[in-house]
Amino acid sequence: MTERYGTAEDRYKYLSAIYDELFPFDADGSATVAALERLAPAGRMLELGVGTGRVALALARQGCEVTGIDSSPDMLRVLESNNGDGAVHAVLGDMAHPSGLGEFDVIYLVYNTLFELHTQDLQVACVSSAARNLRGGGRLVIEAAVPSRVPASESPVIPAPFKDLESVGLQIARYDHVQQIAEYRHVFLGPDGVKIMPSVHRYVYVSELDLMATLAGLKLEARHSDWDGSRFDARSSRHVSVYVKP
Ligand SMILES: C[S@@+](CC[C@H](N)C(=O)[O-])C[C@H]1O[C@@H](n2cnc3c(N)ncnc32)[C@H](O)[C@@H]1O
Repeated sequence: MTERYGTAEDRYKYLSAIYDELFPFDADGSATVAALERLAPAGRMLELGVGTGRVALALARQGCEVTGIDSSPDMLRVLESNNGDGAVHAVLGDMAHPSGLGEFDVIYLVYNTLFELHTQDLQVACVSSAARNLRGGGRLVIEAAVPSRVPASESPVIPAPFKDLESVGLQIARYDHVQQIAEYRHVFLGPDGVKIMPSVHRYVYVSELDLMATLAGLKLEARHSDWDGSRFDARSSRHVSVYVKP
């Protein structure tokens, strides 16, 4: 898929080599897996934008049958190398139009992955095809940032929290509030040199997401501010939303 901000295939070509280092499977990842597994123990799960398998592999090890779709051959190559026991069924494809994968108990997009689709039409297509691929009673789970926080700062340089004495991370950002686009270069400076990671998000408001889900025939079942079930309110910086197919 070609598009204005480069394809995911291009953006993740370089990132695939450093993704697991930058975003290790951590306590937050374990909470993600626990919450998804509770929705359908040993169920059929589909991860849209599965990447290197950060979440999918751990979910499969909990006994779920996990399929993951991604449009980046480089990210899937890393997934394959992490997937020694073949626990995750990996598919190269477009998450806006997945087809022929069967019906699932849970379909999920984590880590702002819905925002990787850069137009409203593509996001609507993604939510409605996910709804079609759910069995009755199945759930679509979306974890994403609350946009009011994303464009709130017009600052072109946003410092990341300090992790140690020797390194620093910066985000250089550009915004288009009409198209709801935030374009970033994440810059990591440390003893190993400089690493730069591009990302482009079309951020979505929770009300807009609820409308996409309603149009797709889904109902909001729960919304929390974290995977541990914390209350969602006006101060929340992200949301975990669970929609159910009646
Ligand atoms: C932020 S990463 C998240 C990876 C993984 N879900 C995780 O939590 O670590 C987003 C992933 O979405 C994939 N992606 C972006 N656009 C896509 C599309 N149209 N179809 C399928 N995958 C896409 C990228 O290649 C990348 O692997």
